[in-house]
Amino acid sequence: MSKNIVTAALKHGLYTGTIGRRILYYQRLTSTMDKATEEAKRGTEDGTVIIAEEQTSGRGRFRRIWTSPPHNLYLSTVLRPSNPVLSFLSLLTGLSVVRAIERITHLSPTIKWPNDVQLNGKKVAGILIEGSHQASEDDYTVIGIGINVNTHPGEISTNLINTATSLRIETGNPVSRELLLVHLLQELDSLYVETQKGKFPIMEWRQTVNTLGKRIEILWGTRVYVGQATDVDNRGNLVLRLDNNSTITLPAGEVTLNRE
Ligand code: BTN
Repeated sequence: MSKNIVTAALKHGLYTGTIGRRILYYQRLTSTMDKATEEAKRGTEDGTVIIAEEQTSGRGRFRRIWTSPPHNLYLSTVLRPSNPVLSFLSLLTGLSVVRAIERITHLSPTIKWPNDVQLNGKKVAGILIEGSHQASEDDYTVIGIGINVNTHPGEISTNLINTATSLRIETGNPVSRELLLVHLLQELDSLYVETQKGKFPIMEWRQTVNTLGKRIEILWGTRVYVGQATDVDNRGNLVLRLDNNSTITLPAGEVTLNRE
């Protein structure tokens, strides 16, 4: 059984206003998204964090499987943001993962738009945002974060070997999950507060985005768009020049609605 990273993290000191006011820790869950959604529906307080050592049905964007063996970080947090903040949640979460990794390693992660966190062109962390937005009082959003922390090279499946990595692989050493957790929650909290005040650091976020100038393929709804990524605007939306020279703007603040 892994040691309780929450107890270990709290020993480092966790100073946050909203995120992590309540932390629930589990050895194994189907998905921290499921538990967080259950807690949200029961009216848990904003900033409740659910952490699991392992997930048996971890999920990613576009209904992909998020394989979740031990030694990494899997967490979800429940928030009830106002509409202006909601559209920045994806950006602020990506930036907090980038900052937390920078704080505890010598690495410089970048963001593949909208919010895959990469090291040397390979994915090290993924973000999933789900919610229920019916303009009612029980609206909630769940932010899920998965970070490949201590995955060994041999544990990465052959089909992902060229696209996925871990902090351990990139630094050559085991990385402290508890320290990463403390920094991640603190960065999430401070960026959440800044964004509530209308001060999301868009320039810092833009500088981490590695997608500009590249030819990319984006699945949006049921369509695939192919073109040159030419810009990201002040709300984090991506401007794509298609092959017929027209441009489209794709929203960054994507939230998957929960289907009951
Ligand atoms: C993606 O890049 O497709 C998003 C991956 C999100 C994975 C995290 S792990 C914690 C939380 N629980 C899940 O089942 N998914 C998210």
